[in-house]
Amino acid sequence: MKSGLEDVVAAETVLSHVDGENGQLVVRGVSLDELGAGNRYEDVLALLLEGFFDSLPELQPALGAARAQLHAILESNVGSVGSMPVLEGMRAMLAQIEDGDELGTALQLVAAPAVLTAGLLRLKHGSAPIPPDPSLGHAADTLRMTHGSLPQRQQVAALDSYLITVADHGLNASTFAARVVASTQAGLVSATLAGLSALKGPLHGGAPGPVLDALDSVGRPENAHAWLEEALVRGERLMGFGHRIYRVRDPRADALKSALLALAESGAMDRQRLALAEAVERAALQLLREKKPDRRLETNVEFYTALLLEALGFPREAFTCVFAMGRVGGWIAHAREQVTTGRLIRPQSLYVGPAPRRAA
Ligand code: ACO
Repeated sequence: MKSGLEDVVAAETVLSHVDGENGQLVVRGVSLDELGAGNRYEDVLALLLEGFFDSLPELQPALGAARAQLHAILESNVGSVGSMPVLEGMRAMLAQIEDGDELGTALQLVAAPAVLTAGLLRLKHGSAPIPPDPSLGHAADTLRMTHGSLPQRQQVAALDSYLITVADHGLNASTFAARVVASTQAGLVSATLAGLSALKGPLHGGAPGPVLDALDSVGRPENAHAWLEEALVRGERLMGFGHRIYRVRDPRADALKSALLALAESGAMDRQRLALAEAVERAALQLLREKKPDRRLETNVEFYTALLLEALGFPREAFTCVFAMGRVGGWIAHAREQVTTGRLIRPQSLYVGPAPRRAA
């Protein structure tokens, strides 16, 4: 029995393949390198959802209309969610969407993390949420709703690249949670809420905030080795390193580093911050090789996610919500795929408690 279900195959999927030995991610027959090249999030969403609904409309306007619907839901709940932490507010607001398996529900769910992250962040800082502009692409409109001005082309490309990179990734913890709920035929809203709740934990989608906390504490490249060594001596895990499946460098870390370098070229990223991150990465990899020689611990997606989202002006408290903006497409595609199997997911447990007592 493996309590983390490692090596257990629990679903057949046409959606994505994580090749941990070779460091490759394939989404519906397209490798991550090709997927990211010049595409928008809507293109990858169309790829993921293809065949899971009767017909798919052109996604940019359909998603724009769904953002407008979500904005209306947010406006009528401002009083109850405005003061909550962003992720809690998002969970509460997602629960307001009527559950179902239709395309309209799916599009509202995809639109939700973008509209809610932007709107809830503004409410926290005492400003009103900005209504969506359905004529813009999803990434561009998300940045506009968050910051109140039209983003630069390179910033839109960086967010698209991030959302595409994290859109789907095999049977990760949040996707598995979404599939389990979908298998009960509870509906897409319930499945997405399960995915979001699983994503929240620091061992899954909650790591990038702590990555930046670590960079801040390290402060200067020359402090990296000593700081990280002390953290390991205290028995802490180094956030942004290690992965259940990848035994080599996570290919998503490279995709995000390229997006960061492009941002740095355009002047939208602080080069000193990048140099600090590279020093921390080098020191962490060296220490992990020395201290955990039996385990291949490499850089994972969360390390460069932290820097990219910071450069795009998202605060740490919202990082997991921005992850959800991308991953929601994967949750919905997997939930639909699970429903089509018609099979309830119901594994067994191994009882290790006491034998039944005899009645006196
Ligand atoms: N820092 C230090 N030690 C580590 C790290 C790390 N980041 N990751 C694993 N280890 C150690 C463990 O302590 C364990 O050591 P032990 O055998 O001496 O007890 C050994 O390596 C194996 O660890 P496991 O827990 O079996 O590794 P697993 O594959 O289950 O964990 C996980 C994967 C949870 C991602 C882990 O590497 C981790 O905690 N990383 C830090 C958090 C993080 O970056 N999370 C984001 C993951 S990416 C994503 O979900 C999108």
